[in-house]
Amino acid sequence: MNNFPYILTISSEKGGVGKTTLATNLAIYLKAMQENLSVTIISFDNHFTVDQMFELKGHKTQGTVEDLLTGTPGADLLHQGQYGVNYIPSSNNLTELYQGFKGPMALCRMVAESGISGIIILDTRPDLNILTQNALYAADRVLIPVKDMPSLENCKHIFALFDQRGIDKKSLALIPCLIDNRIKYDGLFKDQRTLLRAFAINRGYRCMDTYISKSPKVESLNTNPDGKIYPIISHARETEVHSQFTELALDILTSYNQTKEPRAYLYHQWQTEQEGRKKEAFLARLEGVLPHCVICGALHEGEGSKGFYFETADHTSRGFLHSDCFTGMLCSILYDLHPRSDLYQLSLQVIRESAGTTIAVFRPLVDESGQPRLYFQQLDPSGTPLLERELSLDGFLEGVFDGIRDQLFLLLNESMTGYDGKLRASWLVVHPVDEKRPEQVLQDMAYRRIQDMHRLVSEMTTN
Ligand SMILES: Nc1ncnc2c1ncn2[C@@H]1O[C@H](COP(=O)(O)OP(=O)(O)OP(=O)(O)O)[C@@H](O)[C@H]1O
Ligand SMILES: [Mg+2]
Ligand SMILES: [Zn+2]
Repeated sequence: MNNFPYILTISSEKGGVGKTTLATNLAIYLKAMQENLSVTIISFDNHFTVDQMFELKGHKTQGTVEDLLTGTPGADLLHQGQYGVNYIPSSNNLTELYQGFKGPMALCRMVAESGISGIIILDTRPDLNILTQNALYAADRVLIPVKDMPSLENCKHIFALFDQRGIDKKSLALIPCLIDNRIKYDGLFKDQRTLLRAFAINRGYRCMDTYISKSPKVESLNTNPDGKIYPIISHARETEVHSQFTELALDILTSYNQTKEPRAYLYHQWQTEQEGRKKEAFLARLEGVLPHCVICGALHEGEGSKGFYFETADHTSRGFLHSDCFTGMLCSILYDLHPRSDLYQLSLQVIRESAGTTIAVFRPLVDESGQPRLYFQQLDPSGTPLLERELSLDGFLEGVFDGIRDQLFLLLNESMTGYDGKLRASWLVVHPVDEKRPEQVLQDMAYRRIQDMHRLVSEMTTN
């Protein structure tokens, strides 16, 4: 389990509530209290506080959070920083990433595959954009600092997000921050912290007993002549904030040590199972595939022999076709050309080019006199019709071959006839495949396009 990190996310939509102070100092306390623990801090902010605090002097850094979010494994971006805390350098360029960030669990997958162990602290921006949402869903624990009623009000958006997605809210907890102990009230709620806590619980939010006081000393730590930001543990040890951080860090450590299966691990497991399911589905699809080309009857042997994949809408018949067999067939039926005619070779060139990028649909019809006919369509990959024809199938039922439609008859005969020898009320789609890896077409993503095409034809048929 060592390779799956425990994620602690600090988040609030409200700015200036103490997120970054909490994130950076917690990292230092956690490391100080459990020396052999790997503690990593990552910030999605562009304030560079993390860098200012942890960067070792004269140390050249390489890679940033942006690289992490665009696919570089986290462990490759990790920097050993001050106080023994690891960090990934911050980035100024995250705003453009938001649009491209796919899905709510992308970050969870990234940390699961990051190779980083121990605890990762995620400091987020004061918003709920897709990146912050990802940080929330990836977290084993979320701390939401609240300093006043407006920031408490804002929490409802985080809770609502979890409700919408059906995610367990037990990871979420509020922590009163920047509490001014000088302010006292008469009556039941004697101070800011008790008041905030009471309101939080009243709204159904979990709120920590621990809180962080407002301290002028702590506030002064990030304004220094040398431009440095000092940690509470070394420069504000005499304040009560120091003992509050100690208490909080202890609480986090306990929960870390009790978490045998962090979210990143669970997500990784789920993903592995999904992969397994996909593989099974692929193998099942592969099993029903005919071993030969139904146009020429020859078995598929060797690379490059499969140029097209065909499948009937009822899935009873599917297999690969030789490139030459299929394009030759198209050439004959579309241009009414005998393979021995002079024009055939010339037309074949044209057909080859278009067939490699289009999807062909063959749908049997019956005319008023009960004779079978064939509706043929060529579509582009998005499903837009490029060409359509209605072809006569005279002679099909009788088995009369005319040298031009022989290959078509063979294809239909093997794939589309029912027990009575007539054509079934189904249709056939033919997709070009990559000759080097034809079976790829049966993999989940590619196969979905075939299913989409069946759906489209089905819609066109019913309309
Ligand atoms: N316990 C504290 N006592 C006094 N001042 C504090 C305390 N914690 C944080 N501050 C100060 O409050 C200000 C905001 O803190 P911080 O930057 O941590 O908030 P933030 O929520 O990360 O802000 P942003 O939303 O802009 O990222 C800073 O000036 C910081 O020094
Ligand atoms: Mg901040
Ligand atoms: Zn063939």
